[in-house]
Amino acid sequence: MNKINIGIVGLGRMGQTHARNIVVNIPEANLYAACSVAEIEFEYAKREFGVKELYQNFEEMIENPNIDAVIIASPSGFHTEQIRLAMEKGLHVFSEKPIGLDIEDIKETIKIIDSHPNQIFQLGFMRRYDESYQYAKKLVDEGILGELTLIRCYGIDPSTELESFVKFATSSNSGGLFSDMSVHDIDLVRWFSGQEIKRVWALGKNAAYPELDELGELETGAAMMQLKDETMAILVAGRNAVHGYHVETELIGTKGMLRIAQQPEKNLVTIFNEQGIVRPTTQNFPERFREAFIREMKEFVSCIIDGRQPNVTANDGLQSTKVALACQKSIKTKQLIDVE
Ligand code: NAI
Repeated sequence: MNKINIGIVGLGRMGQTHARNIVVNIPEANLYAACSVAEIEFEYAKREFGVKELYQNFEEMIENPNIDAVIIASPSGFHTEQIRLAMEKGLHVFSEKPIGLDIEDIKETIKIIDSHPNQIFQLGFMRRYDESYQYAKKLVDEGILGELTLIRCYGIDPSTELESFVKFATSSNSGGLFSDMSVHDIDLVRWFSGQEIKRVWALGKNAAYPELDELGELETGAAMMQLKDETMAILVAGRNAVHGYHVETELIGTKGMLRIAQQPEKNLVTIFNEQGIVRPTTQNFPERFREAFIREMKEFVSCIIDGRQPNVTANDGLQSTKVALACQKSIKTKQLIDVE
């Protein structure tokens, strides 16, 4: 069988991770083309990955008849339009989260996705492909925790990434802390509980980085949520974890509790020195979720080969963005918000 020719749009932090995974870990696929608005990234793509077909315009890239599938790793505000264009060109689509930033726009995009049932669509909720999360999900589904009562999630970016985040948020619309960061946790809450979220109340504070005020961005945010069956969820999102990249999830049920990555350790090394007992922390998302990013891309390519749709759907994108936007609204209005 011929390799699946992939065109990637966006060669920034996320795009580079996907590009490398295709080249190094997915023998059934070929990184055939890349699209970016930054010249410097073309040099990188040629040098690192040997990509020959380089484009500054997405529509031009998808005109290339040799491309079978696209990976969308452009800024979040471009996702829906690029998904629609690629679907209408007959291509399989993997899109980074969030699926979009506007509910009506996402719904229109889902109509187009649904009208092409033979093309694969997958959304980048890679945590669902992480081994620990998959193991925990299996235990929860087997009933080890009894009935869930509360889910607590932390998703906090390292402060070392703040400068690059400010650049990202200045040049494009991140969608805000909840759409950008918490969508992963919102998806996990929905995935673990099998429930939709019906009500949210969110708060935020900028303390260490008041410059985020000017961008309309939050450094730390928290949201309390109620699910349809009255299960509760507490989400903390932030951009200022001084020790590294902190993603942690806790599930509490009637028969017990379960924690994933209670301490976001880098590996099994422990250092004993003048600071005491030191466990190094994971420093960024490509490091913590390295295997999950590879596994989600393998799934995308397998789905194309097998002609089946992946478990992470466009509707998961819609529902998580609905909740994230309800959190943003709650921050703005200082009110408890019912999710539509
Ligand atoms: P970035 O700013 O590092 O890179 C953006 C890339 O898009 C750059 O290559 C830029 O040249 C390109 N670009 C910008 N405008 C474009 C246009 N009009 N046409 C074509 N290319 C264009 O951003 P980053 O952090 O890589 O984020 C990209 C997407 O990935 C975002 O939607 C973000 O939410 C998502 N993401 C997902 C993560 C995950 O955990 N799954 C982690 C980080 C980002």
